[in-house]
Parts: sequence; C-alpha cells; structure tokens
Amino acid sequence: MNSWVLSSSPFLVSLFFIFLFFINIPLSLCNEVMYESCSNMFNCGKLNNIGFPFWGDNRPNSCGYPGLKLNCQGSVATIKIMNVTYQVLGVNPEAQILKITREDFSAGICSPEFVNSTLDPTLLDFGIGFQNLTLAYGCDSPWIPLAQFSCQINGFVHMKWGAYGPGECKVSVVVPVPVQSIPWRGTEIEIDQSKLGEAIREGFDVKWKVDTAACLNCTVYKGVCGYDLKRNQSTCYYSSPGTFSTCVNNRFASSQFIILNGQHTTTT
Ligand SMILES: *[C@@H]1O[C@H](CO)[C@@H](O)[C@H](O)[C@H]1NC(C)=O
Ligand SMILES: *[C@@H]1O[C@H](CO)[C@@H](O)[C@H](O)[C@H]1NC(C)=O
Ligand SMILES: *[C@@H]1O[C@H](CO)[C@@H](O)[C@H](O)[C@H]1NC(C)=O
Ligand SMILES: *[C@@H]1O[C@H](CO)[C@@H](O)[C@H](O)[C@H]1NC(C)=O
Ligand SMILES: *[C@@H]1O[C@H](CO)[C@@H](O)[C@H](O)[C@H]1NC(C)=O
Repeated sequence: MNSWVLSSSPFLVSLFFIFLFFINIPLSLCNEVMYESCSNMFNCGKLNNIGFPFWGDNRPNSCGYPGLKLNCQGSVATIKIMNVTYQVLGVNPEAQILKITREDFSAGICSPEFVNSTLDPTLLDFGIGFQNLTLAYGCDSPWIPLAQFSCQINGFVHMKWGAYGPGECKVSVVVPVPVQSIPWRGTEIEIDQSKLGEAIREGFDVKWKVDTAACLNCTVYKGVCGYDLKRNQSTCYYSSPGTFSTCVNNRFASSQFIILNGQHTTTT
C-alpha cells in the first residue's frame, strides 16, 4: 500500500522522512517523557495514588488541569482554589469528590483570611449536604436576634445561613458547612465557638466535573491522561516503543505509520 515509497530511490525516501519529521507533531502524543512523568501518582500523608485530573509535586503541570494543583506540605496535602488555601482531607476518584477544609480556620475562627470560599464553576461544584454560612466580623454591637459570638481580635461576629455581605459589620466571609454538624438551629443567641470551629474544620465536599470519559478511553488504550496546556483540553500520552498500535488513535496516525514502516524498509 506504500509501494511508491518502497520503489523510490533512497534519496527520495530520505527526503520524504526529513519532510515528515519536520512537520512531526505525532511524537508529542506518543510522548515517552510525558507518559513516564504523568504515570507518577501524587502521594502525601494519608492521600495515595492521586492521578489525573490533578497535578503537582512529582506530576508536571501538563498532567492535570491548571486549577487542580495539589501541594504537599509535610504530610498535609493542600489545594488553592480562587485564592483560598484548603487542606485536602480526602479524595474519592470514583465519585470525583474532594473533601477540603479551609487552612485559615485551622487555628480558630476569629481571624480568618477575609476571602469567601468560592469555586471555579467550570471545574468544581459544591457537594450536597452543605450550606453556606456567613460570618460577619467586626460588628459594633450584639445584634439580637442574630446568632453571634465574640472574638478578642475582631469584636462581635454575626452568623447567618446563606451568602451575605457584611451589612453593618466590617467584613464577611462565606464558608460551606456540613448542615448536620452545626451547633445552631436558629434559636440560640450565643454560639459555642469551639463547636462552630469544629464544624467548619470538618470541611466540605467539592465535585470535580472534568471530562473523565475521554480519560477512560485513554487508559483503555494503555495511555496516560494529561492536559494539553496549548489547547486547554485533556489529552492522552502514549508510550511509543512496543505500543505503536495505540498511537494510531490520533489524526496523524497515517503519517506516523508510513514513518515507521519506511524506517523498517530502509534498515532491511
Ligand atoms: C486573587 O488574588 C489576587 C491578588 O491578591 C487578585 O488580583 C485576584 O483577583 C484574586 N482572584 C480571585 C479569584 O479572587
Ligand atoms: C454559596 O453561595 C454561593 C454564592 O451565592 C453559591 O454559588 C453556592 O452554590 C453556595 N454554596 C452552597 C454550598 O450552597
Ligand atoms: C462574600 O460574598 C458576599 C455575597 O455573596 C459579598 O457581599 C461579600 O462582600 C463577600 N466577601 C468578600 C470578603 O469578598
Ligand atoms: C473513545 O474512543 C472511540 C474510538 O476511538 C471513539 O469513537 C469514542 O468517541 C471515544 N469516546 C470518548 C468519550 O472520547
Ligand atoms: C487557554 O487558556 C489560556 C488561559 O486561560 C488562554 O490565554 C489561551 O488563549 C487559551 N488557549 C486556547 C487555545 O483556548
């Protein structure tokens, strides 16, 4: 089927290969280096074997989505989402759920960073069973009948279910909280601060919603999933030697086929 190549002079055959290598794009898909580095799994403390769509630590940035970078600090995994650093408490790849808790609340609830917990909606959704809680800091007065507690640093703190601005207070922070564990049913005025802190530190679920269907396809063909930073979409890295047939699964497959066949014919 490639008889014209076989019957050409060696000179023409060489020219042909030079031409093909010059426009050579397929090697980036049959990419041994990326295949190897994206085969590394993220491990940190209790979290093990985390792969696509995440990257970070020993996984280069083209192994996962730009917004899904994991860090390992000591034995604590963290992720930064919309300027807020969270500790990663758990990962459930099958359900595509991350359990995270705000790092700034780990020492207490009186002086967090004043940034709302928001998500990049193209990547992540809030899990179910959690509700927004607004904590408004630096309020002048106790505000009956709102639930509140007081802090040495930031004065009275008002609490309200839902996402709200600071109102008469200085600044508000919105954070999702597991609905059942909140020590407040709307009747109490004074809040048990330590219980509230615990409830916030329990963390909340976020669901990642990236196209894992394409990734499943990739692993079926013995590839490793990654992210093409130029095209902003997931990609598949294949290991070239020995598994050439798996590389046929791309649009440059035909030229690749001729290259390999040609090389073979010139060496025999
Ligand atoms: C994150 O912080 C930077 C600098 O403080 C700011 O410019 C940017 O708008 C923030 N991004 C978000 C999503 O809040
Ligand atoms: C919290 O409020 C934000 C903004 O109003 C909303 O997008 C988000 O879905 C809410 N989170 C939860 C857990 O309900
Ligand atoms: C948090 O979100 C509320 C409304 O959802 C907004 O009014 C408030 O200013 C935000 N706080 C910060 C610190 O961005
Ligand atoms: C999986 O691969 C098959 C064969 O190449 C293709 O027809 C199908 O559309 C792919 N599915 C996804 C979700 O990419
Ligand atoms: C990919 O995303 C980056 C940053 O969001 C953007 O600058 C770039 O234009 C995007 N490229 C494509 C091909 O969409």
